[in-house]
Amino acid sequence: MANNRKKIKERWFVPAGMEPTDMDRRILYWQEKGRIVPTPDLIKTAEQIEGIRRAGVLNTAVLDTVQEKIREGMSTLEIDRIVYDYTTSHGGIPAPLNYEGFPNSCCTSLNDVVCHGIPSDDEILEEGDIINVDCTTILDGYYADASRMFVIGRAEPDAQRLVDIAWECLKVGEQVCSQPYVFVGDLGHAIADHAHKNGCTVVRDLCGHGVGLQFHEDPDVLHYGRRGSGMLLVPGMTFTIEPMINAGDWQVCGDEEDATEWIVLTEDGSLSAQWEHTYVMTDNGVEILSH
Ligand code: MF3
Ligand code: CO
Ligand code: CO
Repeated sequence: MANNRKKIKERWFVPAGMEPTDMDRRILYWQEKGRIVPTPDLIKTAEQIEGIRRAGVLNTAVLDTVQEKIREGMSTLEIDRIVYDYTTSHGGIPAPLNYEGFPNSCCTSLNDVVCHGIPSDDEILEEGDIINVDCTTILDGYYADASRMFVIGRAEPDAQRLVDIAWECLKVGEQVCSQPYVFVGDLGHAIADHAHKNGCTVVRDLCGHGVGLQFHEDPDVLHYGRRGSGMLLVPGMTFTIEPMINAGDWQVCGDEEDATEWIVLTEDGSLSAQWEHTYVMTDNGVEILSH
């Protein structure tokens, strides 16, 4: 049977007898113009934001602990243990553990690993390595997600530069969100522009995401795109920005030897770097909840 039934987009709803708020008016305005606007469930209550904020504080502390302890000669599985021990001893749960078959408590993505690297006993950190450690913490049912790059010892200038450009890309995206009612495409456009100006590329197959009540929620936060495309970001939304920036081409691929099919590599073997924060959009732009 031919399926020609198209889902009708729900119209933003103002309860009968209620004065539309400034936010209601702005959402209705953009929806009428055919833009993508959030569904009501993506706008968190003050109580939910407080919960996500607390999860964010713990998640940041986990990454601070990794930062304190990471060193040359350590295995990526040791990093995983630090994350597991710190998180659980502070009442949290590492969200990656057993998430859709992921076997560990964090992702450790070394050099040409773009993301979702799996901690391993026989992966030893060496001078000059660049590594992303990505942690997501569940606390009292709320989620916060952040990642940092670490440079082991002194890196080659090109590697250090990639790490710095990736950081700048995150901050360029954040800057675009210094006021509410911008579109995801606005920040994606700015990030890709900054990467390209610096001779780097943006991974297209993976993106940031809403976060807070679940690990991955709407909207998709693409790190490239057209201004005005993607979802409108309004106060009360919680989401990540997490650009993956490659030194070579943007294409990615899987690892034949990885039975879990989680690990993502650069197709050309070039280096990749990523930083991630969790944010809440407010009336005055984004506030960082985990970094
Ligand atoms: N933390 C990653 C993100 O930024 C997702 C990792 S999923 C996992 O969205 F299962 F690999 F942990
Ligand atoms: Co994320
Ligand atoms: Co993450």
